Amino acid sequence: MADAYAEAAQALSARLDQLRTDALAGGGEERVARHKARGKYTARERLEMFLDRASFRETGRFVMDDAPPKGQTDTRIPGDGVVTGYGTVDGRLVYVYAQDFTVMGGTVSHRHAAKICRILDQAMENGAPVVGFVESGGARIQEGVKSLAGYSEIFRRNTLASGVVPQLSIIMGPCAGGAVYSPALTDFIFMVEQSSQMFVTGPDVLRAVTQEEVTLEELGGAAVHTGRSGVAHFSASSEEDALFLVRQLLGYLPDNNLSDPVILPSKDDPLRQDTTLDSLVPDNPNRGYDMLEVIERIVDGCQFMQVHENWAGNILTGFARLHGRAVGIVAQQPQVLAGVLDVNSSQKGARFVRFCDAFNIPLVVFEDVPGFLPGVDQEHEGVIRHGAKLLYAFCEATVPKVTVIVRKAYGGAYCVMNPRQTGADLVLAWPTAEIAVMGADGAVNVIFRREIQAADDPIQRKAELVEEYRDRFTNPFIAAESGYLDDIIEPHETRPRLINALEMLQNKQAQLPPKKHGNIPL
Ligand code: HXC
Repeated sequence: MADAYAEAAQALSARLDQLRTDALAGGGEERVARHKARGKYTARERLEMFLDRASFRETGRFVMDDAPPKGQTDTRIPGDGVVTGYGTVDGRLVYVYAQDFTVMGGTVSHRHAAKICRILDQAMENGAPVVGFVESGGARIQEGVKSLAGYSEIFRRNTLASGVVPQLSIIMGPCAGGAVYSPALTDFIFMVEQSSQMFVTGPDVLRAVTQEEVTLEELGGAAVHTGRSGVAHFSASSEEDALFLVRQLLGYLPDNNLSDPVILPSKDDPLRQDTTLDSLVPDNPNRGYDMLEVIERIVDGCQFMQVHENWAGNILTGFARLHGRAVGIVAQQPQVLAGVLDVNSSQKGARFVRFCDAFNIPLVVFEDVPGFLPGVDQEHEGVIRHGAKLLYAFCEATVPKVTVIVRKAYGGAYCVMNPRQTGADLVLAWPTAEIAVMGADGAVNVIFRREIQAADDPIQRKAELVEEYRDRFTNPFIAAESGYLDDIIEPHETRPRLINALEMLQNKQAQLPPKKHGNIPL
């Protein structure tokens, strides 16, 4: 009896060893070698590299797809093509999953989906971010509707987790068909240059259906999605670079919507004043300057992590710290399209504002906006609808909101870019601020058209009127007299004033009227 028992125990132990070995082997030596020959890491290697040393704990290692009918070869692999679990990043809990491309191309079966769903459920229950490493051919074709059902379960959880815990997706290889929609529902997408692609319909199908010839990279590579479509937010030069960027981004984020971002000790003096800022804005209102430099001179250690760096460059969005406190920055970039608002920049800004608001990250705006981009294309592409997104996002945000008007705050764009009247907690202006319905040139053309036409020297008369208009309207004093500005400050004071403002606002409590949810103009 004892011998039989020992024999059974030995068999069980051998089976467990075999399962462990099979799980670790992924799709087998040959496929792993092929994968690595493409310069890629395996799913487990990625997780080990990403998380704090030895912190990864795998769950669901032995999960497998349904057994094949009797008589058919069992090709199932423990883990079913996705490695799931949890670990820490800088000591903070993070839930993770990594698709294993060597197992049936990382495709999603219903069990594979169930593993990802469990990670999302646990992340929501325990209030920690989720990071997904995505590399997948999409729905596992052999599974049919079960795979689609599995995907739907994932999408529902991504949606429920949105605004509850930060969700980050790193695209590590092909991400095809249904595989794209889970990342698309998450907060930030990272792509690796020349080795990751996202597309709903691949090149083969395009060739057959639309006769378009396109490579994977041209269709959905990192350059396309971070520079053209705006689908992805960060482009990394290598897998290692992507992991570094994700860890860096997590540093700015809270664990969940009920907690605040960690305040880090800062070596940068909170009272530091940078006099270079005093001469950074050119005298000529039509000349550009680099808003990136303004931001970097003000924030802790010049560290500004841009989001969507390569897309809609006329607006800058990203994370920085002010005296150790994480802030979300939205700013115009006068060097690109003079910093106008347009379809893409409105969408970029709106999504960023909503993320910060969902996760208790105060917003700091640096404003220099001449208005909305005029043009038939813009109107026909729906600049009204898209501009309204940014307006809506600022209006509904209840986190601390501070605006610094650096130069232009013209027309509708003034209303969009977080003025006092849409809920800014504090509005500061530099002496260079010009707050008006429109720029002097345009305004004079409208108001004094007849007078200019009738003048002996229309050019001279117009120049005089422009000068008069500028003196009267395009300075911050009228807005300050009306109480629309809280203060006019010297540019070099901006850092200490912002730090002081954020301290003053740290316990801000603001409520929206009770509702199920608003209806942002999508
Ligand atoms: C089952 C798949 C698969 C799939 C790839 N494989 N896609 N198995 N279902 N959807 C398998 C391959 O048979 C192969 O198995 C392994 O994964 C690696 O694939 P390769 O083609 O050898 O790799 P590569 O050349 O790198 O090309 C990768 C790829 C390509 C670009 C992803 O495989 C591809 O285009 N696959 C089809 C993508 C697609 O159309 N997906 C949409 C599915 S429908 P072996 O055994 O040889 O290793 C869908 C709709 C869901 O997703 C909708 C929900 C909203």
